[in-house]
Amino acid sequence: MKPTPVFLAFAAVLSSTLAAPAPASPPEKRANPQGVDISHYQGTVNFNTLKSNGLSFVYIKATEGTTYTDPMFSTNYDGATSAGLIRGAYHFAHPDTSSGAVQANAPSGNECYGLSASAMVSWIKDFSNTYHSSVGVYPVIYTTTDWWTSCTGNSASFASTNPLWIARYSSSIGTLPAGWSYTTFWQYADSGANPGDQDEFNGSAQGLKNLALG
Ligand SMILES: *[C@@H]1O[C@H](CO)[C@@H](O)[C@H](O)[C@H]1NC(C)=O
Repeated sequence: MKPTPVFLAFAAVLSSTLAAPAPASPPEKRANPQGVDISHYQGTVNFNTLKSNGLSFVYIKATEGTTYTDPMFSTNYDGATSAGLIRGAYHFAHPDTSSGAVQANAPSGNECYGLSASAMVSWIKDFSNTYHSSVGVYPVIYTTTDWWTSCTGNSASFASTNPLWIARYSSSIGTLPAGWSYTTFWQYADSGANPGDQDEFNGSAQGLKNLALG
């Protein structure tokens, strides 16, 4: 997600062509499956290499704001599918593009897009509820604790509905935004052994598959 300094994105439920999980499988260890998130910024990605490096999933940039579609989205999605990776799509939020008046007041580079905390919470609610109405599940919210604290006033009103994908480039996860007692994904570095940002699923391989299967 490198080119954009602001930390608010929504991620679609991961999709998978895997068959439904086998019933009554023994409880699985928390393997914390590893993944990356990428966009056209990474250029051509060899998904078979990611798979053979042991990655389980890849998040692919789809859109940003209301008008931008990542030119590599389809190529990346097809490549990840062929390689047998579990994959999802993410959308970079642009709360400033919803209203001309707001946009006019929000100099680019303003970390909260010129929105007050309560306006930001309303904007996120609107996005999340609209997504829920059309897809049937709530989107994963990608953010940092710092951004969430500054720009939503550390709102606790999404924790019971939206899974969290926290970005924190450190060896530990640190304090999470209000309400969430755990994170579903952790983006722990913006570079590493594989192209893109480095991510971990907080759970077992089966848990990741279950999320992918909705
Ligand atoms: C991972 O999830 C479990 C709950 O399934 C939670 O207890 C734990 O704190 C989580 N880890 C992080 C880093 O959020």
